[in-house]
Amino acid sequence: MTSLQSVAFSGAPAPSPDPTSPVYRDAYSRINGVVVVGEGLADRHFRLLARAIPEDGAELLRLGAMEGRHARDFIGCGANLGVRPDAALAKQLFAPLHALFQECDRSRDLAGCLVIQCLIVECFAVAAYRAYLPVADAYAQPITAAVLADEAEHLNYGEQWLQGRFAEVAEAVAAICRSALPVTLQILQAVAEDMRTIGMDPSDLVGAFCELFEQSLVTIGFSGAEARRLVFRSVAAVSLG
Ligand SMILES: [Fe+2]
Ligand SMILES: [Fe+2]
Repeated sequence: MTSLQSVAFSGAPAPSPDPTSPVYRDAYSRINGVVVVGEGLADRHFRLLARAIPEDGAELLRLGAMEGRHARDFIGCGANLGVRPDAALAKQLFAPLHALFQECDRSRDLAGCLVIQCLIVECFAVAAYRAYLPVADAYAQPITAAVLADEAEHLNYGEQWLQGRFAEVAEAVAAICRSALPVTLQILQAVAEDMRTIGMDPSDLVGAFCELFEQSLVTIGFSGAEARRLVFRSVAAVSLG
């Protein structure tokens, strides 16, 4: 366990939350906002990637369209509970990560773009939806399960691309990890209390995210020790900041 998990995410999730209660719905509006805005951004990122990697353009537009559907499906999960996503807060939380993506896109740092969207955002999505699945309401559960399968496909696209060019992109990957992982973990930190309210354990989620992300770094070519170091340093930077 990292210091971030033990310090910032301590505390057990609330037992058996009631999705119809005002407290649950209030927390859900912020969690749902992060999900819906995150999916919408993923859609935009894949469209930008389709322009930057024209040889895979059709495939990347297809992946982007899946993200657009995910956003609509999760808006439906909120509507089912009579909840509107808090998009304003979520946009604010995602702004630093999106700005980093745009910076990479402008400077033609394709590896940076792919690490942000296909590794970081997708590992974040996979870890979050896996953690949400056991506590999701009956309407949201099958939707979340279907989305999870799609996110694995998106993660796979980025891993394949980066793995095939590992020697030339390793340095850029390490650099973007150092700047993008802390701002990603800050999003989690901001909604940690709301996660507990809807029955999720934020420290489990951080642990699962770090594990998935480390696995991705190993898949693309880093050693286990290098991957652990990259993740640990970024996580430690958040708790010290
Ligand atoms: Fe998605
Ligand atoms: Fe995705």
